[in-house]
Amino acid sequence: MNTIEQLEEQLAKPSAELIADLSKMDGDIIILGVGGKMGPSLARLAVNAIREGGASKRVIGVSRFSNEEARRELEEAGVETISCDLLNDEELKSLPRVQNVIYMAGNKFGTTGREYFTWAMNAYLPGRVAEKYKDSRIVVFSSGNVYPFLPVGSGGANESIVPEPLGEYAQSCLGRERVFEYFAHQNGTPMTIYRLNYAIDMRYGVLLELARSVNEGRAINLSMGHANIIWQGDANEMALRCLTQCSSPPSIVNVTGPETMSIRWAAKELASRLGKEVLFEGQESDTALLNNASKSHQLFGYPRVSMLQMIDWTAEWVKAGGHTWNKPTHFQERKGKF
Ligand SMILES: NC(=O)c1ccc[n+]([C@@H]2O[C@H](COP(=O)([O-])OP(=O)(O)OC[C@H]3O[C@@H](n4cnc5c(N)ncnc54)[C@H](OP(=O)(O)O)[C@@H]3O)[C@@H](O)[C@H]2O)c1
Repeated sequence: MNTIEQLEEQLAKPSAELIADLSKMDGDIIILGVGGKMGPSLARLAVNAIREGGASKRVIGVSRFSNEEARRELEEAGVETISCDLLNDEELKSLPRVQNVIYMAGNKFGTTGREYFTWAMNAYLPGRVAEKYKDSRIVVFSSGNVYPFLPVGSGGANESIVPEPLGEYAQSCLGRERVFEYFAHQNGTPMTIYRLNYAIDMRYGVLLELARSVNEGRAINLSMGHANIIWQGDANEMALRCLTQCSSPPSIVNVTGPETMSIRWAAKELASRLGKEVLFEGQESDTALLNNASKSHQLFGYPRVSMLQMIDWTAEWVKAGGHTWNKPTHFQERKGKF
């Protein structure tokens, strides 16, 4: 995998199960906050699944489209686009009524110093959206950050672990969940809360950050010594299939890969492929932010792209000087300050 075209093609290949799920499902799909890191590939995946299943459904992508090129590419791929600032109530009200909603809008980085904005985006806007789409089913993107750090040998937090978010970003993510949950109770709206940890694309993500550090001879801090990752194509596929799991009160589905990944191990694997020495600083902590997504694997099957495949692809991408986005995950953060 060396080019953006190959990457986009890989991300947008639907499984037979996704094709079958979307073929059976009534109504069109609207993706709110489509313009970010995951939305464009999720929208293309949905279009391909619908096309291959011979169904006729619209896929509508909504964002401010601060990146106009992303909008043009979506239109070319068969996604209808609407430019809208969801925080503007008039613009939100003017959006079409659609049966299936994927809610991806949110704010993380830059929270420190502008906490009020993160709370408005992550905890106030969900109420406005839940009211507008009370007759739809809604998949709500959330984050594994709502869980407390757990011992690295624990297997990670499953859906029964009580949230204990650290810092205002994670607290506002729980706020988003609770506000949606309130409206699910109030209006009977079926929803799935989708708690994701670290999607991997070649252009951003935990593995890219490790590979670049190795390649540039920068030391890797080990204090967040373990993490969970999942191929973005698999994460997107599960998000769309979560439409089949919506209920009121909302169901909760953790989404990530099956492994508790050791950062030390992953960095060494990348280093051997890049022909470099790896430098470490610090030591692994006893705890980490860990998500146990066994339930999603039971529901949807294991991710189709394996950990070593992601490592191979990432090393090849970095070696070839592939295009990257300047969007670090800050997965090392242990104080919840983003
Ligand atoms: N990527 C991951 O590994 C990961 C992990 C855990 C959780 N998540 C969550 O999953 C969701 C999707 O992830 P992502 O990485 O694609 O997030 P992202 O890059 O932050 O994308 C979200 C997009 O929403 C749009 N948006 C923000 N404010 C808006 C507004 N007021 N009106 C309309 N659109 C707005 C923005 O696009 P425009 O500028 O075009 O409006 C933004 O790029 C996010 O909520 C994120 O917190 C992601």
